[in-house]
Amino acid sequence: MRVASVGVSKSCFLLSLAFGGLLLMLIPALQPQGPQADLPQPRPQSRPARGPSRQDGASAPSGVAPGLNGSSAGRSEPTKAEPRPQGGGDSKRSPDRGALLRGKGGEYFGSRSRDLLELKDIFIAVKTTKKYHKSRLELLIQTWVSKARDQTYIFTDGEDKELRVRTGVNLINTNCSAAHTRQALCCKMSVEYDKFIESQRKWFCHVDDDNYVILPSLLQMLSSYHHSQDVYLGRPSLDHPIEAAERIKSDGSESVRFWFATGGAGFCISRGLALKMSPWASLGNFISTAERIRLPDDCTIGYIIEALLEVALTHTHLFHSHLENLQKLPTATVLQQVTLSYGGFENRRNVVSVVGGFSLAEDPTRFKTVHCLLYPDVAWCPKLKPRHKS
Ligand SMILES: *[C@@H]1O[C@H](CO)[C@@H](O)[C@H](O)[C@H]1NC(C)=O
Ligand SMILES: *[C@@H]1O[C@H](CO)[C@@H](O)[C@H](O)[C@H]1NC(C)=O
Repeated sequence: MRVASVGVSKSCFLLSLAFGGLLLMLIPALQPQGPQADLPQPRPQSRPARGPSRQDGASAPSGVAPGLNGSSAGRSEPTKAEPRPQGGGDSKRSPDRGALLRGKGGEYFGSRSRDLLELKDIFIAVKTTKKYHKSRLELLIQTWVSKARDQTYIFTDGEDKELRVRTGVNLINTNCSAAHTRQALCCKMSVEYDKFIESQRKWFCHVDDDNYVILPSLLQMLSSYHHSQDVYLGRPSLDHPIEAAERIKSDGSESVRFWFATGGAGFCISRGLALKMSPWASLGNFISTAERIRLPDDCTIGYIIEALLEVALTHTHLFHSHLENLQKLPTATVLQQVTLSYGGFENRRNVVSVVGGFSLAEDPTRFKTVHCLLYPDVAWCPKLKPRHKS
């Protein structure tokens, strides 16, 4: 079975992870643990009971996991998603930025990463469809993508050589159907996953074509973790775990409960965790996994991570989708978020409230305003007084 062969090829990697993890545990043990803020906190490690349906031993993980945890590494504590310890370490970070991102309860984001995370370590996947290349994608390419062009990969469903040549973006034609169906969405996610694994980068982050990614915040957030830990970060779309019927045998189905991060707000997965997802996610397996529970792409990611690998979603409210009331985000905190969005079916005026050189008519999504607040030196940003447009 493919699970076993993947496991064997991974045990070497996992052993080295274990050794790295052990080192990571030893060094911080000598240092004071800072208080944690209210921003993305790891959930308790002891997982709550999964309800009666999971107590019958029919769940997948224990049957599938042994090949993955190898001799000692896979599930050992050091790889759990915990913010990295505070105190000591480098002081290269800009103090202003640190202060900006500090949570109410303490210096959560004041990470002291030993190997400083850089933007080039992050693989950012943008999911789009040909219909939105002009109306949505161009705005992203003009704004945040221009600051992360090399590591941003745009997954679409049609050729657009003109866009590729003109803007120089990494545009990947997935050859998936352009329909907004579960199968088509899962097809794209499957290609995203494979391209990330191929890329060798440390973090996989997925966003939609109506998201603005605040790159400095993303970098700060991910710097709190190590890519060899099991980290799955995102905004839960429900306030309770989803319950789904898991079809493993043709003669019946089991019920599974798990949290998942809503894809419309974006989510991130560490490389360590992504590699463990391989039996269910790589080379088209993602599509058959999605068929097992008959749920969309983002739910399937949650299913693989929470239900099959038993790694908990780290809930964070720094990711935002168009389903939220974005006007409610306090203006002073907008630039500290990781992703933003706009609009939605029922409310075109559902945008973040930021004040800058562009009027609502000039910048209906507010993405240009946000971009110019973050990068005031960009050529097309209005210079405050005298105001001019390019
Ligand atoms: C691997 O993990 C499973 C489930 O957590 C456990 O039952 C098994 O003993 C572990 N195997 C090894 C070799 O640690
Ligand atoms: C989509 O099809 C084209 C043409 O056959 C091919 O070159 C490309 O690699 C395919 N894309 C993916 C992601 O497989």
